[in-house]
Order: sequence, then C-alpha cells, then structure tokens
Amino acid sequence: MKLNIAVLAGDGIGPEIMKQALQVTQAVCRKFGHEFSYKEGITGAAAIDAVGDPYPAETHELCMQSDAVLFGAVGDPKYDNNPNAKVRPEQGLLRMRKQLGLYGNIRPVMTFPSLIHKSPLRADLVEGADFVCIRELTGGLYFGRPQGRSEDGDTAYDTCIYTREEIERVLHLAYKFAGQRRKKLTVVDKANVLASSRLWRQVAQEIAPQYPDIVTDYLFVDNAAMRIIQWPKSFDVLVTENLFGDILTDEASVITGSLGLLPSASMGLHTSLFEPIHGSYPQAAGKDIANPVAMILSVALMFEYGFNLQEEGALIRQAVNASLEAGIVTEDIANGGKSYRTSEVGNWITEYISK
Ligand SMILES: NC(=O)c1ccc[n+]([C@@H]2O[C@H](COP(=O)([O-])OP(=O)(O)OC[C@H]3O[C@@H](n4cnc5c(N)ncnc54)[C@H](O)[C@@H]3O)[C@@H](O)[C@H]2O)c1
Repeated sequence: MKLNIAVLAGDGIGPEIMKQALQVTQAVCRKFGHEFSYKEGITGAAAIDAVGDPYPAETHELCMQSDAVLFGAVGDPKYDNNPNAKVRPEQGLLRMRKQLGLYGNIRPVMTFPSLIHKSPLRADLVEGADFVCIRELTGGLYFGRPQGRSEDGDTAYDTCIYTREEIERVLHLAYKFAGQRRKKLTVVDKANVLASSRLWRQVAQEIAPQYPDIVTDYLFVDNAAMRIIQWPKSFDVLVTENLFGDILTDEASVITGSLGLLPSASMGLHTSLFEPIHGSYPQAAGKDIANPVAMILSVALMFEYGFNLQEEGALIRQAVNASLEAGIVTEDIANGGKSYRTSEVGNWITEYISK
C-alpha cells in the first residue's frame, strides 16, 4: 500500500516518542512491502512559538491531505501556569478535532499479562479485562455555546448540545466495533437528569433494532464509573458523550497500570488520527526516559483501524508484549528493576519486528 502520513510530534516528550514510533512504522513497512511517505507539521506550544497559532492552516492542510495523522502530545508548563495566556496549546487540539471532524475517539483498555501487578486493582478483577471506550469528541459541553461568565463575573455557564446526527454517527461507529468483537454495546448517559442524555438514549433505542445480533444495554454514568472499577470484565464496547467519555476513559486507563502504555484512535470525516492517551509529560522532555509504548501501539491502531491491515498491527502488539515480558521497559514500569531508555525500548521493538 502507498499511503501519506502526517506526523505531528508536538511538545514535551512528543518528538522522542514519535521518533521510536516512526522507526517501528518503517520496520513494519519494510517487512510487509508498504510505501509510506511522511510529512511533518507543527502543533501545540511549538507552533505557538513558531507562528503564534497552535494549529496553523498549513498543518491543517497537511492533515487533510493525509491518509492518517500520527500525533504525539501537546502542552507546556509556560501555558499551564499562566491563566492569562490568550493562546494555549490545547486550543489547537480542540480546533484540530473539530476541523478534521474527528467525532469518535476510541480507546482500547487492555491489560498486559506481565504488568498485572502494576494495576491498582486486584489481579483477579483485571486479568483478561479487554474493552473499548468510544467517546464522542466534537460535541457536547466542550463545544456548546453560549459559554462564558456574567458581567459581574460571579456566574459561569457552559452549554451541552447534541444533535441527532452527531449521536447517530458515533453510535453506528460503536455498533461496528461491537460487531467485530464480543457483540455487546453499553450506552452510557445521564438520561434521568439531562435532556441531551435523553436524546442520546432515544436515538440509541431507535438504532438498536438495526443491529439484532448485538446486545445493547444502558448505564447511567455514575453507575458506569463504579462498574469500570468493580467489574471491568463486564464491558465489551462502551459508548458515551464527550465529557463523560473524557472522565471514564481516564478512569479506565488506570486499570492497566501506566499512562505510558495506552494508545487511542480518533476516527473522522476527513482522516483519522492516532495518539497516545497521555500528555506531553514535560518533566521528562529530552531525557530519553519516557515510555514509547503508547505511541508505538498508536501505530498498531493506525494499521488496524486506519488501514484495515490486521497482521501488521498484530506484529507490533506481539513485539510490544515480547519487550514487556523480556523486561525491556522504561522506568515507569520497571518496578525497581533495571530500566531502559526510550530509545533502547524503541530499538528493541524495531529489531524484533525486523527479524
Ligand atoms: N492529548 C494531549 O496532547 C494531552 C493530553 C493530556 C495532557 N496534555 C498536556 O500535557 C501536559 C502535561 O500534563 P499532565 O502532567 O497532566 O499529563 P501527562 O500525561 O503528560 O503526565 C502525567 C503523568 O503520567 C506519567 N506519564 C505520562 N506519559 C508517560 C510516558 N510516556 N511514560 C512514562 N510516564 C508517563 C508521568 O508520571 C506524568 O507525570 C499539560 O500541558 C497538559 O495540558 C496533553
């Protein structure tokens, strides 16, 4: 396959984990005979510093012309610690999602057998947990208007808006995933309180009969938050709106034991984007100590979800599991044992794939 990849490394540890992910991508392409071309774009604080805009028009053009986008992370303490900053790296992230129409964020939550002991939950609860969270990404409270403050500054408001179309498209995406997995979809809302959630539930109930082989169930978000911790193995595919998804996916990620391990995919109208779930981890920037696995597994998702190349994705997973089992791990998961550098882990995984 000949494909164009946009590479947005971003800030902090972004460039160093991206370097390892690209090495891995190139090794997979050599092995399977694919021809990828890579073009880099600036984003986040790096783009503010360079051109005053966290998601410049040239970067958007590049993404629009690409078959997939590989994204590192954005964020810099100089903006985090300045509440008066007018332009922020995260604004670029929201604009990128909206402009690329990235409406469905997919986060697989899986456990790694050799790392079960790192989970804060009991081993028997998490062993074998394997589910997918699908979060609506371009609607709801994060984008709804009006948003702001009253003139006296003492009242603040956000607006949660969803249209039928926004709900339908992400539900169809969720049913597609459920159909390829264990055929169970859990729709999470707060329909007992919120009007927007009642529309979610109504639309879900209308769509469900189109997927007779899939069992649909409904959970209120507070109940879902408990169930993820108490019985993570009860989920197959979970779908929810933007704010609930933001919180539940972070909660679900701790099951694994380290933020540095989990990838995500955002499926969109124009292209799709693959990125680790963690941020720019600025304390580690340039030190060659960050875990590159979440970024490398994002490449696996690009092959699987983006290009429907399952064997290629499976080989990356196999290489990552082998590195974990061999103890070739960064300090966040070394558990007091020997730890390796970002580049050493990346090289080991690349060599495994190239064998
Ligand atoms: N999608 C994104 O680009 C994104 C997401 C979240 C946060 N951010 C931004 O990132 C910056 C830092 O935010 P934060 O500290 O809250 O979150 P973070 O995910 O960057 O780091 C939180 C902690 O998780 C661990 N961690 C994260 N990634 C790791 C890795 N690859 N290897 C090993 N350990 C890792 C570290 O202990 C770190 O202190 C902020 O500017 C924030 O706005 C960006």
